[in-house]
Amino acid sequence: MLTVRAPATSANLGSGFDVFGLALDAPADVVRVERAAETTIELTGAGSQYIPEDPAKNTAGVVAQELDAPARILIDKGVRPASGLGSSAASAAGAAVALNALYDRGLSDEELVRVAAEGEAVVSGAAHADNVAPAIFGGFTVARGDGVTHVDASLPLVVCLPDIVVSTRDARRVVPDSVAMDDVVETVGSAATLAIGMARDDPSLVGRGLHESVVTPRRAELVTGYDAARAAALDAGATGVTISGAGPGVLAVCRTHEGRRHVAGAMVEAFDAAGVDARAYQTAVGDGARLFR
Ligand code: HSE
Repeated sequence: MLTVRAPATSANLGSGFDVFGLALDAPADVVRVERAAETTIELTGAGSQYIPEDPAKNTAGVVAQELDAPARILIDKGVRPASGLGSSAASAAGAAVALNALYDRGLSDEELVRVAAEGEAVVSGAAHADNVAPAIFGGFTVARGDGVTHVDASLPLVVCLPDIVVSTRDARRVVPDSVAMDDVVETVGSAATLAIGMARDDPSLVGRGLHESVVTPRRAELVTGYDAARAAALDAGATGVTISGAGPGVLAVCRTHEGRRHVAGAMVEAFDAAGVDARAYQTAVGDGARLFR
């Protein structure tokens, strides 16, 4: 069997809605594949009971179909679904990398992103690449219709996952159809600041670059305790906080690896005070899906 570790990811980063993404050092899915006459999927781990094993309805199964690479696929979920941490993208990316190797398909990372995005489309209804791009490339990615730009980074992060469910459909429903020019100017300024910050691995620039006023404030209303957790993280030394992907996960950028513990504790406590159980991952920007031979 071939084994691939495929990371959780955080999309949007505030100012890069549907464009920016980050690979997280942890958590991750582990995807194992072996050749078979037809594709089957077996699931274990976080939230696996909510994920369809039917290959036609599972991101990894759709990837196998796209690659014409039938396989027995075992997925151990480290990333629970509906977390805002790219759960379905991790499985899609893991399957794409594993099956590309298993069947010697020789696809480039860019091509694997396209295949994994097809898998994503099955669960989300639209082929967003903002989670699968970092899940394949690692680091920080800018995913656009004309391809993916990527830079490695190693910023310390905390991702806090409150025990509530926000469907991507609901989270997209609150996004406005059009925006005022003032908001466009603010968002472009933040996005550019964030991109320069990633290239320099500078937590202060990245934290400032998360800010925008169009999507995040509306989505924050769907995440009970978000405002308190954000304030607590900033008080504890985070340089910036935003919703991870469509939520309910919350991403905090930290100044140092040592500082993450304090930020993680403050966020969990703030959610707790709001009556919401939460767990926090002390993580960092990490690598894309990797094969273990
Ligand atoms: N960019 C997407 C969103 C990520 O925020 O809705 C979730 O698919």
